Amino acid sequence: MMSQLQQLSVCFLVYCCVVVIISYKTINYRVSSSSKAYAVPVKSEYNIALLPGDGIGPEIISAALPSLIAIGKKNGFEFKFQEGDIGGIAIDRHNDPFPNETFELCKNSDSVLLACIGGYKWDDNPRELRPETGLLKMRKSMGLFANLRPAKVIPQLIDASTLKKEVIEGVDIMVVRELTGGIYFGTPKGIETLPNGVRRGFSTGAYTEPEIERITRVAMEIAMKRNSRVCSVDKANVLDVSALWREVVINTAKDYPTVELSHMYVDNCAMQLIRNPRQFDTIVCGNMFGDILSDESSMLVGSLGMLPSASIGDLSQPGLFEPCHGSAPKLAGQDKANPLAQILSAAMMLRYDLSQPVAADQLERAVEIVLDKGFRTGDIHQPGCTLVGCKRMGEEVEKAVNEMM
Ligand code: IPM
Ligand code: MG
Repeated sequence: MMSQLQQLSVCFLVYCCVVVIISYKTINYRVSSSSKAYAVPVKSEYNIALLPGDGIGPEIISAALPSLIAIGKKNGFEFKFQEGDIGGIAIDRHNDPFPNETFELCKNSDSVLLACIGGYKWDDNPRELRPETGLLKMRKSMGLFANLRPAKVIPQLIDASTLKKEVIEGVDIMVVRELTGGIYFGTPKGIETLPNGVRRGFSTGAYTEPEIERITRVAMEIAMKRNSRVCSVDKANVLDVSALWREVVINTAKDYPTVELSHMYVDNCAMQLIRNPRQFDTIVCGNMFGDILSDESSMLVGSLGMLPSASIGDLSQPGLFEPCHGSAPKLAGQDKANPLAQILSAAMMLRYDLSQPVAADQLERAVEIVLDKGFRTGDIHQPGCTLVGCKRMGEEVEKAVNEMM
């Protein structure tokens, strides 16, 4: 028979083992879930929701698909595409810029590939019937809180930038923009009429601690796969919401000791991006600052027509991949648009959502090959290069994929 003391020690030992096992599992779960890079396991067929949207959208999507299909074939997988409406076309067809059937289609897909939305036709519509409202509704309802906007200077296009070559050479920035909070979504908001008859418009810029923490974690994880430097951009010298932002970023960053964290006020950052863009690696910021700074960074690269983006959230949900540029209604229907940002968005989809990083690298390489060969759409055209239309540019990328060893 065991003495009471022995029984007690056995109980204590069992208790310790249980505690160790549980904490090991928790830590392990945390590590694997936070460093999990892909939402979808490797598959032989992926379901993709295709949202061509408005303006040049349908053209750039059709130009992008052949190279995506070819890259799948090369790597042993296929795609099943299903189209949905968003933006202006959805307003025309369903009287809703993000109809429920599009939401269902997106939710039940592995990934969403979007082109662009908007056009003059809907510019005077009330807010709930504007194309942009559909985009915001999609981001919010699908929980896509992190928007990754890379701005990497492509040597072949260095002369297409309005900035000096020596300033932008080697620039490689990732803007991590919070996408479902901040002043875009804060309440109260509206336009009211004061007792004296004067109208007053107001929006609320607000962030909760968990919202700041989760976007910081995304930025940290991304920075660790790059040069391990994060610059958090805020306006903490004026805005309370930014003071909290900075505090939470600093606390969260303690979990990532290998990442070098710095802070910058947004006005200074806007200036530094032009003065010395190479100082930046990963930038993390709120929704509106990210909207502005990502457009600014795009001009370092030469053309907005080259910039892809990824919007991701809870990794069990499909991500959204779209070019940073708009729908360019003036170019629509003329076969003049640049489909490369769309193709590069498809590459981001392969990398961040579909567990196909090799295929992603190959697709990006194919774009480089086409640029090396001197093919250019109007937005990046330079003397001595071959001016091509949207469709031809897509065909050239497809050809480069097929010719790849
Ligand atoms: C962007 C766009 C959108 C935004 C518009 C179209 C609502 O400018 O994706 O950057 O402001 O987020
Ligand atoms: Mg924008």
